[in-house]
Amino acid sequence: MKRFGVLTSGGDTPGMNAAIRAVLKAGLNKGYNVMGIYHGFAGLIEGRIKQLQYPDVHSIIDRGGTILRTARSEEFRSEEGQEKAVQVMQAYNMDGLIVIGGDGSFNGANALAKRGICTIGIPGTIDNDLGYTDFTIGFDTAVNNVMSEISKIRDTMRAHDRVGVVEVMGRNCGDIALWAGLAGPADIILLPESPLSWDEAAKQLTMNKLKGRLTSMVIIAEGAGHADDFVDFLKAHTDVEAKAVVLSYIQRGGDPSTSDRVLATRLGAKAVDLLESHQGGRAVGIRNNAIIDVSFEEALNTTKKFNEELYRLNDIMSKF
Ligand code: F6P
Repeated sequence: MKRFGVLTSGGDTPGMNAAIRAVLKAGLNKGYNVMGIYHGFAGLIEGRIKQLQYPDVHSIIDRGGTILRTARSEEFRSEEGQEKAVQVMQAYNMDGLIVIGGDGSFNGANALAKRGICTIGIPGTIDNDLGYTDFTIGFDTAVNNVMSEISKIRDTMRAHDRVGVVEVMGRNCGDIALWAGLAGPADIILLPESPLSWDEAAKQLTMNKLKGRLTSMVIIAEGAGHADDFVDFLKAHTDVEAKAVVLSYIQRGGDPSTSDRVLATRLGAKAVDLLESHQGGRAVGIRNNAIIDVSFEEALNTTKKFNEELYRLNDIMSKF
């Protein structure tokens, strides 16, 4: 009986469970034993491994988080840690490994691929910061979570003629802020990639107030600064009354959206296809709605492009 392992690593993301389910079912369909590795690479090194059966993935497609748990492992970054992981793979007779996570997890998966393990990566991160794929699992749900919070915050901001400053996740990539801002909508979007300075943003909010728009929404990605600091900045430089809201883990939890469930299912099945044909060292993804796979080198080295078009569009949408 052929056997492979599956693990989730890095920050959890809604849709990871849907991907685990797809991997197990596609694996069973091809006659594999699928081993669930708990707590990411740390769990692999420590042998926290159990064979997954169909009941383990029953009713998980609609659940956020990850049934396999997740972790960030310091030990795995070392040569010794990686060697230990290879030995555990061999001890459990696993011929392959599927890693669901973001760029840090792909670096780990690539290290194992270089040590001869047939390893496939599935992109799971709410940040949508991997340039080789149009979307990562969890991004759509995170944006939807942010949107529904924005609409609640807007109600109360409007009632008091205040400016709402909503901080969302995204250290290097502002996609959550950009998409949630455009759809939310937000009057101002502050991103790590964006050319808009806090000074310009403050001027715009003052102009809004002078034009009689008494309430505005600002969305700020954590990589562009903190909501509290921007509110203090507004207090110091304008007479607009602003309130900060940090959405934090609210955006990362909850039921995955339809898009994330479908994406996770397609990517999970594709990952198993690649394992079956021994095409290790690759990451699956989606481009123009087609499922693709690229080498880990390409996945990790493709620079994420800033979506200037969406950003400019929001300028027009928030002008009137
Ligand atoms: O990479 C996913 C992410 O949610 C980032 O957006 C965020 O900056 C980070 O993880 C938070 O990490 P932690 O779970 O360690 O607080």
